[in-house]
Amino acid sequence: MKRGLFITFEGGEGAGKSSQIGVLAEKLRALGRKVVVTREPGGSAGGEAVRHVLLSGAAERLGPSMEAVLFAAARADHVDTVIRPAVVAGEDVICDRFMDSSRVYQGVTGDLDTAFMRALERVTVAGMVPDLTLILDLSPEEGLRRAHKRRGGDTPDRYEKEEIDIHRRRREAYLDIARAEPERCAVIDATGTPEAVASAVWEAVRTRLLAEDAVA
Ligand code: TYD
Repeated sequence: MKRGLFITFEGGEGAGKSSQIGVLAEKLRALGRKVVVTREPGGSAGGEAVRHVLLSGAAERLGPSMEAVLFAAARADHVDTVIRPAVVAGEDVICDRFMDSSRVYQGVTGDLDTAFMRALERVTVAGMVPDLTLILDLSPEEGLRRAHKRRGGDTPDRYEKEEIDIHRRRREAYLDIARAEPERCAVIDATGTPEAVASAVWEAVRTRLLAEDAVA
């Protein structure tokens, strides 16, 4: 059986990942493909349990290295029970955040040791590297403005409360990953209309992953 595609979306807060994921999933389904949409942290029973602990801020007191271990534990479960079985069964998997979020949020802005982060990534991802990572790129100011609007005045979660400077460093870190791994990563300008972003996403998927199937 032909393996499915594994596509991940990355980027800062408010970049529009979830709506773009919905659009892409529909386009792939319209081609007759089976698509699983999932997210991190979470996406599996074990992953969702850990998600709650992480996003509530309850894990903050354990320190950044142990938070990274929890993200890794959630990811390992997600890869083993959801992502790999679907891809092996020929289904496409689209995941909202994956290993690059750990590289950026824990590794770069969490200031964790590179060798430690690499080792964690190797054991959790266990070869399940995305075929394509779409990095939705947006200025931190615009991202935060959108995130705030989307919340409609709700309390920001632990990760949204952080300073604009951290958001800048994350944006740079994502762009560094894209420069280091241009075959896997496509940087998508997320400042345009949702339609413009969706067509840039589709262009990347079509040319990089579907070209051999001669899809228009
Ligand atoms: P979520 O509510 O899913 O927000 P978003 O719309 O930004 O994806 O929150 C996930 C948060 O967890 C997000 O702020 C990034 C953070 N995160 C990490 O720090 N490391 C990770 O490995 C992952 C997957 C997420």
